[in-house]
Amino acid sequence: MARLRALVVAVVALFALGPAQVMGEGAQREGVHVAIACGALGIELEMCAEAASQWARETGNTVQIVNTPNSPGDRFQLFVQLLSSQSSDIDVLQIDVVWAGMLQTHLADLSDMREEADAAMFPALVANNLVDGRFVAVPWFTDAGVLYYRKDMLAKYGFTPPETWQDLTRIAAAIQQAEREAGNGRMWGYVFQGKAYEGLTCNALEWVSSYGGGSFLAPDRTFTADNPRAAASLDEAAGWIGTISPRGVLNYDEEASRGVFQTGNAVFMRNWPYAWALAQAESSPIRGKVGVVALPAGPGGESAATLGGWQLAVSRYSKNPEAAKDLVRYLTSAKEQKRRAIKGSVNPTIMALYDDPDVLAANPFFGTLSSAFKNAVARPARPAGARYNQVSDAIWRASYDVLQGDKTGKAAMEDLEEEIARIAYRARWAETKVGQ
Ligand code: GLC
Repeated sequence: MARLRALVVAVVALFALGPAQVMGEGAQREGVHVAIACGALGIELEMCAEAASQWARETGNTVQIVNTPNSPGDRFQLFVQLLSSQSSDIDVLQIDVVWAGMLQTHLADLSDMREEADAAMFPALVANNLVDGRFVAVPWFTDAGVLYYRKDMLAKYGFTPPETWQDLTRIAAAIQQAEREAGNGRMWGYVFQGKAYEGLTCNALEWVSSYGGGSFLAPDRTFTADNPRAAASLDEAAGWIGTISPRGVLNYDEEASRGVFQTGNAVFMRNWPYAWALAQAESSPIRGKVGVVALPAGPGGESAATLGGWQLAVSRYSKNPEAAKDLVRYLTSAKEQKRRAIKGSVNPTIMALYDDPDVLAANPFFGTLSSAFKNAVARPARPAGARYNQVSDAIWRASYDVLQGDKTGKAAMEDLEEEIARIAYRARWAETKVGQ
């Protein structure tokens, strides 16, 4: 916590020094100034900066790109600090799919952009950003967990991609052992996001849900993970640590897992679609050797992908809300979403782009995995509302305890139930209707 506070203070202080990057040539044309805080994963920042500067050139406004921390938790804290002080320093914010309920009081109503969104975008994503009838953010890109595998390795040892976690465990162990015996001492079977942060909540939800163990909180806020399937899925994941996954996975986020996979040192990786464009980049050692399939299912269960993704919102404290909205409109347009899908393999929120031949040629799995994207499982952000971060924090800590070998899946889920009951008590959930 102390580290986080120091980081937030440092980022805010840096920010207060002045624009990190000012772009656009239109200031002399009496444009206005808009600051946008966008993502940091892979080439996200680069793509955001390219488009924002193009918008600035076309409109005669100037735009400033505010650098934000890579970790979603740190980024959230930074936004909360700025917004709570009603700072007008950031006009447009990139917010996670699970943040609308927590940040809504600070976000402008974008209802005048609702019609366009309704006409083109996935209805569930639009609905996710409706809080008390206000449309607080426009879906920019969507995410779902997928399984990356080494096509060449599976072919070499005569395997097909796994359909269950048991298959994955078996294939990963076999290839890891064979490769190590052949002198490839750094080879691992499976990398994923095992660090204690939001990404682990996403991975744990996929394990639990693919075992038929629910999704932690039901829409009416009932705790659903105190069941043998949920416990078994976590116990199985714990069995990977130090066997098919390096112990270091307990400190891996998206980019750390990608680092291992992309240098050729893992057979399987769980990640979001952005990793595809990077794996296929000209300089990538695994270019042409990677396949993408749906995540495995648990015994008797079905594959589950956690719904992720990011939205663009306008701060209520923006001094230039009209220009800020115009930037949001530009960045979420079909043209820009298509460019980002091709360049960065990020999933559009505009349904028609999934039939676009250029998008599909760049990302063949957008077509083959369309049901995984459509049926992605939501984290309990709706039922948890303003308390989502506390709930997610409890989920990832419980999952981490199991991965580390400190608790069994069963004990961790019992403790998690109690912890969520405490959050519910403090939040007076029993006295308020769901969604309030
Ligand atoms: C990705 C997802 C986001 C999620 C995060 C967790 O960025 O899009 O929804 O919260 O990963 O690390």
